[in-house]
Amino acid sequence: MLDLRDVKKSFTEPDGGELPILDIEEFHLDEGEQMALVGRSGCGKTTLLYVIAGISRPDSGMVKVGQWDITLFTEAERDRFRAEQIGYVFQTFNLLPGFTALENVLLGMRFAGGHIDRARAKHLLERVGLGHRMTHRPGQLSVGEQQRVSVARALANQPRLLLADEPTANVDAGHQQQVVDMLRDGCREDNVALMVVTHTPEVANQFDRRDNLEHFNRAVVA
Ligand SMILES: Nc1ncnc2c1ncn2[C@@H]1O[C@H](COP(=O)(O)OP(=O)(O)OP(=O)(O)O)[C@@H](O)[C@H]1O
Ligand SMILES: [Mg+2]
Repeated sequence: MLDLRDVKKSFTEPDGGELPILDIEEFHLDEGEQMALVGRSGCGKTTLLYVIAGISRPDSGMVKVGQWDITLFTEAERDRFRAEQIGYVFQTFNLLPGFTALENVLLGMRFAGGHIDRARAKHLLERVGLGHRMTHRPGQLSVGEQQRVSVARALANQPRLLLADEPTANVDAGHQQQVVDMLRDGCREDNVALMVVTHTPEVANQFDRRDNLEHFNRAVVA
């Protein structure tokens, strides 16, 4: 369901030089497949997730999600495609500060253009242990609680592909397993492909497939 071919991405350094971050010959993920993406800090994991989600565009190469090469889309088309097909747990959460936990999850459904299912939204929040915090706004939630809201939001629109960037970085061991279970079970139930970036071996080891980006990225990031 996901196919990358000859994907290259560079950034412009503050001094104007070119900084190659990604050079990936081939990367593939099957329908409903689950994997962990590992690799040291700065090796390009978030950059790769952004390219797959269509948040940023590679300099060259193909990024096929389902039958569509999203590099051929305009930015507006990519935004729409992402809202409908992709769930994203941001490393920095990106919750909307003016809305409650429950409203943030409901907005995930609304952006996807799907139907607003309050019962499902509540159920998702309960599954990550936030049944008692539904009407709190992000500023009234702990960092780990915000992270769990963002996991619930990513599953809200029943995507085909879920990308989670360090979804357990800010939660304790108990909630870590709760978050991993919800991501894995939620994706398995709906045959959603799942890619989890993690620095936590206990999380990575739960996946049969563990890819180290440094092993298939030909751009060597200094
Ligand atoms: N907009 C940008 N301009 C210039 N360099 C950037 C930009 N964004 C990222 N980089 C550089 O690209 C490299 C990869 O960044 P990325 O965020 O993908 O790493 P990562 O593997 O997700 O790291 P971490 O595990 O710490 O989150 C870093 O060295 C970073 O400094
Ligand atoms: Mg990152």
